[in-house]
Order: sequence, then structure tokens, then C-alpha cells
Amino acid sequence: MKFSSNGKILLLICAAALLLPGTSLAQLQRDSLAQTPPMGWNSWNKFQCNVSEDLIKSVADSIATNGMKDAGYEYVVIDDCWQMSRDDNGNIVADAKQFPSGIKALADYVHSKGLKFGMYSDAGTKTCAGRPASQGHEYQDALQYARWGVDYLKYDWCHTETRNAEEAYSTMSNALLSTGRPIVFSMCEWGTAKPWLWAKGIGNLWRTTGDITDHFEGRGKWPDGNCCWVGMVDIVEMQNGIETYAGPGHWNDPDMLEVGNGGMTNPEYQAHFSFWAMLAAPLMSGNDVRSMTPEIKEILTNKEVIAVDQDKLGRQGHRVSKNGDLEIWARSLSDGGRAVILFNRGTSESEISVTWEQITYPNHLSAKVRDLWAHKDLGAFQGGYSTRVAPHSVIMLKVLP
Ligand code: GLA
Repeated sequence: MKFSSNGKILLLICAAALLLPGTSLAQLQRDSLAQTPPMGWNSWNKFQCNVSEDLIKSVADSIATNGMKDAGYEYVVIDDCWQMSRDDNGNIVADAKQFPSGIKALADYVHSKGLKFGMYSDAGTKTCAGRPASQGHEYQDALQYARWGVDYLKYDWCHTETRNAEEAYSTMSNALLSTGRPIVFSMCEWGTAKPWLWAKGIGNLWRTTGDITDHFEGRGKWPDGNCCWVGMVDIVEMQNGIETYAGPGHWNDPDMLEVGNGGMTNPEYQAHFSFWAMLAAPLMSGNDVRSMTPEIKEILTNKEVIAVDQDKLGRQGHRVSKNGDLEIWARSLSDGGRAVILFNRGTSESEISVTWEQITYPNHLSAKVRDLWAHKDLGAFQGGYSTRVAPHSVIMLKVLP
């Protein structure tokens, strides 16, 4: 949704601000972006600091033509390491060796593919990779991003020392809004100051945990002793209980996808993708989309699972039952249906049964059940549904009365 260039929508936002006491105009402007969880690609999980204009252009080419754009992937985001220095006027300068044509030309190229363009900075003095960050330059940087044609900013939390998170993220949020360009604001504060409690109206999405790693489960210290890397299932676990804070315009972000990066099996990646949809999470792919296998592409472009993620009700799912390694998660959808995940975290095949009461339907109800990975209607069932689930796998269902 556009607001700055569209007088009617701005008028609507102003009218809504008058009608909703306690809600600021800035909050409504911020929430009008990302009405469904943002979808796209980010360079970090696969490429870390090896970013260049050639990489970004070839990734944009692939997304535009390999079915991902058609499935809803939109934002192409350069993460850390594009920055080199500041000029005499304090303007941020990109690495001219890696980005010889400049950032504006790159943004134009991404836009020419019908995609949107995103960048990364940090609220401290330096980014996590030690590049110049935005503290003290927020308004100047926001203006530069707007001039370049940036549509999405991921904003990290390294080297912030004693800075207050709510102040730091509000400052950049206001700076972005003041440019008049709609720029989705992705807060990457790792959940340290519980942003779900205060960041609605400041950011469109906020990280809820430390960095994801390409492991099915587990957590531990990084080689330098710093805490902590987190596996996929452990991240999922940490989302349960904060679901009520998410909604259209403001999403919990359990971090970017690892699907296709090689550390998990395909069923584990299916589970990863299913959970991100269940959690109404941003779907930022993080693999080399130029050379993925057909199986990985099929996971990333499963339109039935993506439809759950993008459901316009924006209701994040939660766990409705846990019996050892066997879990059931559910989410309400705008058509009155439920998305359901039957998750076998264990190492041997097991039967999992969901009752309609567990997903807030009466048990006498007969409901249609569809398997979102098999793309198959399974029939109508009264009272519940039961099936065998392979180890480290999910069955993802849509249940519709
Ligand atoms: C932090 C973030 C990551 C990535 C790196 C870049 O660790 O959480 O997602 O942006 O910094 O240095």
C-alpha cells in the first residue's frame, strides 16, 4: 500500500488517527506498510560479507524468472558489508570495488525486474561486521536511502553500548517516515529488550531471537565464546507465547530462512518453511536462489503454504499440544479455516491425532482436510484427524468446516 504519493490513502490514515485515540499518525503510517509478512531474499545467511552488485543483480534476475516472484517474493535485500566509509559531509559511501555502478543504479536494476530493493544498517557506531553504522546519522542516512530508491531497511543492534532500544529504533523509524518514501522497517534487535512489547508502530517486523543457523535443532556458543547460535526448532520453541503481539503491519521475526543452505534434510526444510508460515513470519529466503535444486525450489514456492503465511487476518499460530516429541500447532485463517501442523520432532515415525476441539471447533463438526505438501484433499472428517508422521517432519493441513 502506498501512502506518500497517494493523497487518498494519506487522508484515510489521518481520518483513522482521529478515530483511534492513542494511535499516532506515524504508527498508522508505519503499520500501513507490510500488511502481510514481507517476502524476499537477503544475502547474509549464504553470502555473509561476499556481496557485490553482480551478485544482487543475478539474484534479482533469478527471482524474477524462477517462479519466486510469481509466488510473492518481492524484496531483494543486501545485508551487512556494502558500506565502506563516510565522506567529508558525513554521507555514507558504498564499497566502490564491489558496487562500481553505485547503489542507485543497483536499486534501479532491481526495480526494473518488478522487485523491491532493501539495505542494511545498524543503530550503533559500527555494524556487526565492523562497517560504518547509523548512530548520529539517522536522518542523513534515511534521506540517502530514499534518494537511492530503497524500499526496505534492516537495522541491526551491534556496537550500541548503553543505547536504549526503543529510542534508537524510534529515531530511525521517524527518520524513514520523514523522507516520505514508504520504507519497510525491519528491526534486528534479537529480542533482547522484548521488542514485541513496544515496537508496534515503530517497526514492521522485529527479530525475536539470536541468529538462526542451518541446523534442525540445538544451540550453543559461537567459536569466539559469544552467545549463541540457535537451531531452527529451538527458534520455533521461542515464538510460542508471543503470538498475540503480531498482526498486519507489525510481525514477530524468527529470522531469515535457511531453506536450501545444506545443513538440513529436505523434510526438515519443509518443517522449517511450514513453521515460518504458521508463525506469520517474514519469508526472507537466504540461499543461493540461482542454483537451487528443484526440491528446494518447490519448498520455497509452495503457494498453499505461502497462502497460510500471507493470510490477511494476520493471526500468528501457536502450539496447541505437546506430547514429548509430538506437537500440534494451529493458526486461524480469514476464511474461518485453520492451518494445522502435526510435528514429529523425534527420530521414529509416529501417529499424531488432532481433535477439532484442539483447534477451537466443536467435535461434532465435519470439516474438509487438505494436505498442503501433498496438494491433496483428504476428505471430510468428523471430530478430528489422525495420521502417521515421519521423523523430523511435519504434515501441514488446512482444515475448513
Ligand atoms: C547480525 C544479524 C544477522 C546479520 C549480521 C550481519 O548478526 O543478526 O542477521 O545481519 O549481523 O553482520
